[in-house]
Amino acid sequence: MNIQTIKGFKDILPDEIPKWDFVEQLLRKLFKSYHYKEIKLPILEETTLFARSIGTGTDIVEKEMYTFDDRDGKKITLRPEGTAPVVRSLIEHNLMAATPLAKLFYIGPMFRRERPQKGRYRQFYQAGAEAIGPSGPLQDVEMILFLSQFFKEMRISNLTLEMNSVGCPQCRPNYKALLQEFLKDKQTGLCENCQRRTLINPMRVLDCKNESCQKMLHNAPEMVHFLCGECHDHFEEVKSGLGVLHTVYRINPRLVRGLDYYTRTAFEWKSDFQGAQNTIAAGGRYDGLVKELGGPDVPGIGFAMGIERVIALMDPSLTPEIELPLFIAALGKTAQEAALLILAELRENHIGAEMDFQNASLKSQMKKADRYNARYVLIIGEDELKSGKATLRQMKTKEQEELPLQTIGETLLEKLRPPI
Ligand code: HAM
Repeated sequence: MNIQTIKGFKDILPDEIPKWDFVEQLLRKLFKSYHYKEIKLPILEETTLFARSIGTGTDIVEKEMYTFDDRDGKKITLRPEGTAPVVRSLIEHNLMAATPLAKLFYIGPMFRRERPQKGRYRQFYQAGAEAIGPSGPLQDVEMILFLSQFFKEMRISNLTLEMNSVGCPQCRPNYKALLQEFLKDKQTGLCENCQRRTLINPMRVLDCKNESCQKMLHNAPEMVHFLCGECHDHFEEVKSGLGVLHTVYRINPRLVRGLDYYTRTAFEWKSDFQGAQNTIAAGGRYDGLVKELGGPDVPGIGFAMGIERVIALMDPSLTPEIELPLFIAALGKTAQEAALLILAELRENHIGAEMDFQNASLKSQMKKADRYNARYVLIIGEDELKSGKATLRQMKTKEQEELPLQTIGETLLEKLRPPI
């Protein structure tokens, strides 16, 4: 059997690239206007970075990381997410000294060994943003505003924004103890994982996908009711900011996110499509993470979106079929050489153009032009060379005109140069 891609990994083929380009270009444009700078980070990191930040009791760290021993015995991991690496990099390069608030974005592949299904892959792409440094509750609102604008420009509707506050190290222990107490006599109804997590990380039970576990949570205490004064005020200010922008959201008291570093605000954008894989973007605040990883005691907030999931929902009319501006059908060696010169001139001016180097028949070259979706075909044959003219055919309208070969470069540039 021929070698194929590994389960959960997929090729992104040339036909799909225009959508990817569109998404990335829009993201870059928006990030620039929101004053975020790009950061490119390694795909491999030391395993401890993720264990310490995402948390040892999480699905990602317990079951999903691609971790292996490097040749020198060091444990390394294919990054399952981007927040911890960004924080690691900020600390390592002391970037927070230079900018009071580091606003960074990244676009790249992440790796999680989850059960693959539609919209869920083992290698997937995220676009993420992090704002690290002193800020206020309106920073949370700015993050959400960015996503709102992005989805609007992608013409993705039917998304719901869910919000919660997961508290902080002041108020969470008390809540965890209450939740543990609540779950104590419900152990038989919980899955094995949740029975274990009741003891080590009871909030993880709240986002278990298992239906029977969800049933057990009826009337469970909710974090929003046990927030300390500061967390409560923070959440109120975030909600008030969203109100000012007329952003519609729903409070989901069970929203705890699958990573342990979150504090206070947590949010998810969900679509009504795609079944269980319906979270398109998600994020939250992580006020203790920078300190936990050895940096200064500064807060942070961010989000990441799954690009495959965004592309599955985007309006296809945003990326019309790509045309090749010009195909040159040249017949015979002299005509081919003349065509090569024209081709070079167009490409020097960054105009897409193509010809056939096989010296095939006119019929077969026209077929090729069709398959390339050429807007124009320039025909240069023996007759054209003799008369000093070439024939330019507009493929859609089938209109033809004769163009003098002497000034053909300039004429074509004028016709094909995209409007400024
Ligand atoms: P996350 O919720 O684990 O958060 O992932 C963010 C998004 O990545 C998800 O909402 C989903 O769209 C996409 N995603 C996750 N796993 C997969 C998968 N297996 N296949 C396809 N798409 C997937 C984070 O990663 C945090 N680092 C977000 C963040 C940034 N929080 C603060 N800053």
